[in-house]
Amino acid sequence: MRQFDTVIRNGTLATASDVFRADLGISQGKIVAIGVDLDAGVVEIDATGKLVVPGGVDGHCHLEQPTRDGSVMADDFFTGTRSAACGGTTTVIPFACQFKGQAMRDVIADYHRRAAGKPVVDYAFHLIVSDPTEQLLGQDLPALIRDGYTSFKIYMTYDDMKLNDRQILELLSVARRDGAMAMIHAENADFIGWLTETLLAAGNTEPRYHAQSRPMLVEREATHRAISMAELADVPILIVHVSGREAVEQIHWAQGQGLRIFAETCPQYLVLTEHDLAGHGFEGAKCICSPPPRDKENQAVIWDGLASGIFHIVSSDHAPFRYADPAGKMIRGGATPFNWVPNGIPGIETRLPILFSEGVVKGRISLQRFVELTATNPAKMYGLYPRKGCLAIGADADIVIYDPERRVTITNSLLHHNVDYTPYEGLAVTGWPETVLSRGTVIVDHGDFVGTAGHGMFLRCDPPELARPKPFVPSP
Ligand code: URP
Ligand code: ZN
Ligand code: ZN
Repeated sequence: MRQFDTVIRNGTLATASDVFRADLGISQGKIVAIGVDLDAGVVEIDATGKLVVPGGVDGHCHLEQPTRDGSVMADDFFTGTRSAACGGTTTVIPFACQFKGQAMRDVIADYHRRAAGKPVVDYAFHLIVSDPTEQLLGQDLPALIRDGYTSFKIYMTYDDMKLNDRQILELLSVARRDGAMAMIHAENADFIGWLTETLLAAGNTEPRYHAQSRPMLVEREATHRAISMAELADVPILIVHVSGREAVEQIHWAQGQGLRIFAETCPQYLVLTEHDLAGHGFEGAKCICSPPPRDKENQAVIWDGLASGIFHIVSSDHAPFRYADPAGKMIRGGATPFNWVPNGIPGIETRLPILFSEGVVKGRISLQRFVELTATNPAKMYGLYPRKGCLAIGADADIVIYDPERRVTITNSLLHHNVDYTPYEGLAVTGWPETVLSRGTVIVDHGDFVGTAGHGMFLRCDPPELARPKPFVPSP
């Protein structure tokens, strides 16, 4: 008789393709058996009436990322990953962000120092490239890709980050040659600059004008341009945080042309609208992120795209700035003009519950699609599959036992981040992660965080197969 370290018994397993009743056996941190009536485990977990899904992979979040405006991200690698774990996410991929003049190797070393001893779940890093010098393009970036940093973000907006089209093309050709996934923040910087000045000149400084400074066409134009550059460079790209119809139309068109354009969206574009930026007083600043939330019609288009396959991943874009804080949303006081409010909202813990409740429970997406969008595809997108993102023999035992019936009204005091608000305050959801395992270790037990700082391991990512210019065709 074989004894497992842990057996999860009588659950309903859900993968990106199937839903079935089975037991799951874990030894030495790996999934080693899936079957019926498995032998005993040293630890037995009863999952009767529960779903057993792969731990979420959050392919877009920001932790302890330095900024240039004096604002401070409130979550470090402990509080941010604790919050992720309690929300059913067992792998996070935050960014190591280069500022102009910095060598990328130094940036990476700095982020490893920040993370040291803190993460409670496994983590990798994307790079953000803001200074594509010859040294970076020719030497540093190819070497880092070989070392397991196989994705990088390109900004088309933000004055201290944005790259011009020529620089983007140079980077896309490195992605093509060395097999990295390029993630594009698609908003037109000059359009935003002009609109912002016009709004401010008319005395329009409140949070709601943030949405007016970045209307849909700003995103549509940049999305189109990013797609054109990907076509020219002949390389797949991922358009991140897509917010509405006009960008979706560009992506859908490109996919119809056979271009490998991948798309990410986030819960904020599914449940928030621009009206949330017009909250009482300065409250709307709690929902300032870029691109901004749109309207109900745009939300419906994003839901359709999730169901139809236009989108590949759902990430949190967790960017944790506190509200009542001079290092957060109130960086210039309680009436900070919208153009000074740090962009980004917290959401690392609420990503799975919102998508499950609004998507699966409301019948908009299947359970398999939920798993695909939150775990399997992000693992594939960033070269972590099949170690992460699936329930398969040999995969890391990163597992969520999900109570599909628990009703929760989201309120900030329930959450485990270090932020003083959630933009989803009062949102009622059905379903919540109950017990979470990271490489076989229980880190959330019936809703209680029991993990330890430093348990999380750094992951080197493979060059993602999805980043290859041409689809893989098996030889006959
Ligand atoms: O507003 C946002 N999304 N802030 C986070 C940084 C980014 O561009 O993803
Ligand atoms: Zn972005
Ligand atoms: Zn982001």
